[in-house]
Amino acid sequence: MMEAGRQYIEFEHIRVPAAVHTMESFNYAWKEFETRDDDVFNVTYPKSGTTWLQEILSLIYSNGDPTPVKTAFSWDRVPWIEQHGGRTQLENRPSPRLITTHLPFHLFTQSFFKTKAKVIYTIRNPKDVCVSLYYFSRMVQFMEYRDDFQDFVSLFLSKDIMFGRWFEHVKGWLTMKDNPNFLILSYEDMLKDLRSNVIKICKFLARELDDAAIDSVVEHSSFQAMKNNPMSNYSVVPNDIFDKKYGTFHRKGVAGDHKNHFTPAQEEEFEKIYKDCMKDVNISFT
Ligand code: A3P
Repeated sequence: MMEAGRQYIEFEHIRVPAAVHTMESFNYAWKEFETRDDDVFNVTYPKSGTTWLQEILSLIYSNGDPTPVKTAFSWDRVPWIEQHGGRTQLENRPSPRLITTHLPFHLFTQSFFKTKAKVIYTIRNPKDVCVSLYYFSRMVQFMEYRDDFQDFVSLFLSKDIMFGRWFEHVKGWLTMKDNPNFLILSYEDMLKDLRSNVIKICKFLARELDDAAIDSVVEHSSFQAMKNNPMSNYSVVPNDIFDKKYGTFHRKGVAGDHKNHFTPAQEEEFEKIYKDCMKDVNISFT
């Protein structure tokens, strides 16, 4: 049984929290949204670096000026297209629009494929995604949650997990990998060397930032800077939605936290499923 408030809707076999999505908002994102050539999509499986990219993109488009990230909420600067506010937030927004989405590839905005718009897809080690989602689901009162971590891993590996399984999400999006308007980033690689990833993003988006501007993007999108930025750390969201007694949105921001959570048996089972699902895909996580 799901607790009241933690309700989901199902759109084309994909389950999402009913608090922020409607059938109409999903349909708008998939079928009705008119993509412009200069739109930029920040695409992720949940808990893979979505908010990080929202910050980096905002800073790149302000040429490193931190004013926008200090004065406007991340979800207003780079809104989710599939959430119920998507239409109002994006329809009349001046270009270039920065747009966030967790949509799986097969439900992604159809009009995108007729344009020169760009997609940045950020991938994170799925075991760390699972751990991050476990804590996030506990905090966010409208999300499906299992108290026992073992039970949560089972939910994560099932088709009932929000936005569908990580494996299908990643495999779907990787079919775009040879498209020149598609850039893949790795959360782990960004942790290792944020600056060179910022430069890579600028190049992909044809944004010419000088060294000082790049430095500013890196400084203001660091874990600590974002954790301390009320415009990006969700601290203003009331406790009945994000219950802060369970922690903060910026939790650890590290690679490998799964080692502190998975038992050897769970790890083995996860690896088996991973190998089976990802056998045709060549990616690795450090
Ligand atoms: P943890 O829960 O492992 O700490 P998303 O934005 O997709 O919801 O992902 C949230 C995860 O990204 C959280 O992971 C969060 O701490 C991490 N994160 C957010 N901003 C970050 C940053 N600037 N650097 C590193 N990790 C960041």
